[in-house]
Amino acid sequence: MAHDAMAKAANGAAGKAGLWAWINQRLPVELFWRSQLTEYYAPKNFNFWYFFGSLALLVLVMQLFSGIFLAMFYKVGADTSFDSVEFIMREVSFGWLILYMQSVGASAFFLVVYLHMYRALLYGSYKSPRELLWLFGMIIYLALMAEAFMGYVLPWGNMSFWAATVIINLFGTIPGIGPGLVEWIRGDYGIADSTLNRFFSLHVVALPLVLLLLVALHLVALHEVGSNNPDGVEIKNKKDARGIPLDGIPFHPYYTVKDIVGVCVFLTLMGLVVFFDPTFGNLFLEKANFEPANPLSTPAEISPSWYFTPYYAILRAVPNKGMGALLMLIAVTSFFFLPWLDRSPVKSIRYRGWIFKSFLGLFTISFLALMYLGMQPAQGIYITLSRLFAVPYFAFFGLMPFYSRLDPVKPVPERVTFHG
Ligand code: HEM
Repeated sequence: MAHDAMAKAANGAAGKAGLWAWINQRLPVELFWRSQLTEYYAPKNFNFWYFFGSLALLVLVMQLFSGIFLAMFYKVGADTSFDSVEFIMREVSFGWLILYMQSVGASAFFLVVYLHMYRALLYGSYKSPRELLWLFGMIIYLALMAEAFMGYVLPWGNMSFWAATVIINLFGTIPGIGPGLVEWIRGDYGIADSTLNRFFSLHVVALPLVLLLLVALHLVALHEVGSNNPDGVEIKNKKDARGIPLDGIPFHPYYTVKDIVGVCVFLTLMGLVVFFDPTFGNLFLEKANFEPANPLSTPAEISPSWYFTPYYAILRAVPNKGMGALLMLIAVTSFFFLPWLDRSPVKSIRYRGWIFKSFLGLFTISFLALMYLGMQPAQGIYITLSRLFAVPYFAFFGLMPFYSRLDPVKPVPERVTFHG
């Protein structure tokens, strides 16, 4: 397929004269365009769940763009960070817009990525042959968490300071090396100027580079195996005489046009939040972060941003801090093992039985409940409920090798069921 495309592209470019041919003889632009877009065949039955990959790409670019402009005015340092953010908000032309694009963008990124991951749970997109694609996705997710956490510290508000204190102290629960490790991460005996400086460097240089590299690998792995689809049918198994999948359509123009619809809806919604409610009722930006960092004044309730709260609820549900940290680590990393935990012969939820559907339903409810509980005070009923909802959360992963095998699945059709 790749050789076909190469030959055609070479002929195509050679047939044309001028600059385009000159470029293509030196850089395979046309070959890339054809093999990855106009002659890359994607299943014809994508639904709205398939918007979120391209939207994640869009948000990534928007974060880089707004970040570059913020970095022009932001002054890293325990004495300067908070004031420079105020300066951006009040004095820099459209500074407020760039800042809110970045802060709302962080929440939008996680929203889009969570929906993108949930699609994979619905349609079994992590199953063979897409395991590596899934693993790259999971590493992206971890890198994104680190990126968001460090970005949150940069404005040097009071929640920045205390969230950093709580999260970094978690490393102290590692037996033996814990206390030394915490000091090494902070670069001081407490969260201080040195911590802020290294977080800035990691947030604006190291992690964006890592993320871009990982996304590139994610897409190369995707194009190697091809997309899954809502039926979970491998379209490469049924091809015509020319070797084109019978249920495939060229990515460009069909899906580029479809993705533009998703982009328009997304930008409208994001615009509404950025212009009319950028803190989103304290969910995207907390009140405590409009006060400067103060080591002598702990906010009444320390809670991380909404996208971390399911894991935070699990951390707080366990009385022993070390065990809580371990359980939280297991809660995040369990997703890595899905391709091997899931023993069902069927990929898509459309052909799965009631057992899998019930476990997925319970998992969804517990994830959302834990998200809510992680934002509440760490006391009484909230802790009890967190313990309760942690059970179906872990059962979803832990029991999967058993229930996915027992599940009464339906027969999967040979071809996709969508007829346009
Ligand atoms: C910056 C973050 C990410 C970007 C830009 C990104 C981009 C994409 C794009 C463009 C696609 C193809 C279109 C689509 O299927 O929606 C895709 C597919 C996929 N991604 Fe991601 N992704 C990201 C994060 C993740 C994460 C965190 C995971 C999982 C942990 C993941 C797992 C997958 C899977 C399994 C597919 C194939 C889905 C299928 O064919 O059904 N991705 N990704």
